[in-house]
Amino acid sequence: MKEAIIYYSLNGHVKDIVDEMSGDKFEIKTKNKIISNKALQMLTLGFMTMISNRPKIIVDKTIEIDKYDIIHFVTPIWAGKVSLPIKSFLEENIIENKNIKLTVSCNGSDGAAEYDFIKLVDQSNEIIEYNVIKNNRTE
Ligand SMILES: Cc1cc2nc3c(=O)[nH]c(=O)nc-3n(C[C@H](O)[C@H](O)[C@H](O)COP(=O)(O)O)c2cc1C
Repeated sequence: MKEAIIYYSLNGHVKDIVDEMSGDKFEIKTKNKIISNKALQMLTLGFMTMISNRPKIIVDKTIEIDKYDIIHFVTPIWAGKVSLPIKSFLEENIIENKNIKLTVSCNGSDGAAEYDFIKLVDQSNEIIEYNVIKNNRTE
């Protein structure tokens, strides 16, 4: 089964997780740079998450979704949900009839991330795996 790993990492924790995975990897980046100050990230991105404001994104390589049996999303948790760049990706790309895995990285609670994610994917897909990885790395 061919697996595409589609990920977004703001501060490197997700990137470390993805580095240990095997599969074809695609990195989502935001078009506008996100502020590096962690307290301000919490304020601005937490607020954007609450009002569902989707950032503009780019992906580092072209993804031919049809080539893959499994699509694996790896994302930080923002305000108890999957990160906004992953939501932007799901809005901009058609993903149907796939096996889907979701791995989330958080430092406390994954909140309502799984439920939030299920609402975003087409019902023809099957979610075959959900993993929560808590980071204990000191920044
Ligand atoms: C805006 C924002 C909101 C966050 N909200 C949560 C949260 O609700 N629950 C949680 O456990 N961690 C939360 N975190 C922490 C990140 O999910 C966690 O540090 C993750 O491992 C970061 O991955 P990254 O370094 O790849 O960006 C938040 C981080 C940011 C920047």
